[in-house]
Amino acid sequence: MRSYTLIAPAKINLYLEIIGDRHDGYHELAMILQSIELADQIDLEANDVQLIRLRSDSKEIPVDKSNLAYRAADLMVQEFPDSFATYGGVDITLHKRIPVAAGLAGGSTDAAAVLVGIDLLWKLGLTKSELEELAAQLGSDIPFCIGGGTAIATRRGEILSPLSGLGGIYIVLAKYRSLSVSTAWAYNTYRSLFGHTYIKDTENLAARGNAVHSGDIVQAITRQDATEIAQKMHNDLEKVVLPEYPQVLQLKESFAKYDILGTMMSGSGPSVFALCESQEKAEQVKLSMREEIPNMDLELFVTRLITHGIQVKSQFAI
Ligand code: C5P
Repeated sequence: MRSYTLIAPAKINLYLEIIGDRHDGYHELAMILQSIELADQIDLEANDVQLIRLRSDSKEIPVDKSNLAYRAADLMVQEFPDSFATYGGVDITLHKRIPVAAGLAGGSTDAAAVLVGIDLLWKLGLTKSELEELAAQLGSDIPFCIGGGTAIATRRGEILSPLSGLGGIYIVLAKYRSLSVSTAWAYNTYRSLFGHTYIKDTENLAARGNAVHSGDIVQAITRQDATEIAQKMHNDLEKVVLPEYPQVLQLKESFAKYDILGTMMSGSGPSVFALCESQEKAEQVKLSMREEIPNMDLELFVTRLITHGIQVKSQFAI
């Protein structure tokens, strides 16, 4: 049996600006997405029963058709029925390490890994942009997760411009295990509170989306200036999530007491990260946070920014 094991990194948002509404009910965004080393592992194995079967070591996620990884496999079956007939079904095992419903694209990166893995299993030879196009049909963050690294993401989040990769920057990531925030809730609440500030005409929307390319944070990324990056980080969704979830605000306030470069909520939360200038500093901050908040519901990770998305860890083919 042929099988592949893939590494699927999480992402954080260094920047998230909501600039307008879209006719499809989504938002026009200007974001900077960043892969981190914290990753899930996904095993894909060809089976001879013409079925997609999904399992996971986590009890927190469904393993039916509502799981994005399952939907990714299903999309490949719909798009490439001949290959499905030739190569058979796929057994997918998700080894979850990325906190669930955390604003870290855990579900999205698993789905991206399934697209990449099935492309390999079925020897389709899809290009990166073909994989990104399929990914965009499944969710807004999934195209980024394929190639990963550091990228500007505009429109719904699927139009990507890669930036020079950031190395040697560590983060401490904090998330309350039992706390989750619905992404749809966060965006809909933002619309109801701030919809009146949205840019309405198409020309200005495009101009605002383009402006991020020459913005301060992009220049700081080009210079690899972690201090400046930390100062220019921004997330509009903090305006709705922090007032509603005091524990998330408390994490930001706690991080701010220590020797960090900056702190920000990732995506729609509720995970919060602190940028640190070295691994040693990050480990110290993690220890201090644990002493300050001994609640074991709080998960703390030290991880680093990385320059890649989905990677093949090992393969077995006979
Ligand atoms: O695309 P995805 O399924 O990840 O999006 C989850 C939810 O986030 C959407 O249902 C929508 O409410 C919100 N969203 C949005 N605009 C975007 C991306 C996501 O409003 N560009």
